[in-house]
Amino acid sequence: MSLADDLYRETILDHYHHPRNQGVIDDPTVQLEGVNPLCGDEITLYLVINNGTISDVRLKSKGCSINMASGSMMTEAISGQPLQRATEIVELIKDMLLGKSQEVSLPAELEDLEALKGVRKYPVRIKCALLPWNTLAEAINDVLEPAKS
Ligand code: FES
Repeated sequence: MSLADDLYRETILDHYHHPRNQGVIDDPTVQLEGVNPLCGDEITLYLVINNGTISDVRLKSKGCSINMASGSMMTEAISGQPLQRATEIVELIKDMLLGKSQEVSLPAELEDLEALKGVRKYPVRIKCALLPWNTLAEAINDVLEPAKS
């Protein structure tokens, strides 16, 4: 196992054992559940949005280590970000996990998220890693285009 693999594993385990921003927001701008149909695991995402920016985020997760770690990393990455930027980050992560090239490079402020790249080696776990991100994309869509959702 390479040094990079070790670092990725350490980051995932740290977020799994100490998930950031877990909990509930009582009066969120948007609240959305996401389910992994393969295993039945689910999350609930809470966002507070002020002037188009995510000012608070919480996640209630019931899932595997990859799901928990990915969700935890996501909350750190999107907190304080404008919705447009959060959407761009979702696209970067999807590209990193599903894109043809393994060489998606993330900007320095998102480099922790590269730990998720290791999940590419386990195709059945990609859905676990993507659950929080897909739920976020849907939640942002609900906020930006409420009539269509
Ligand atoms: Fe259920 Fe990973 S096994 S989310």
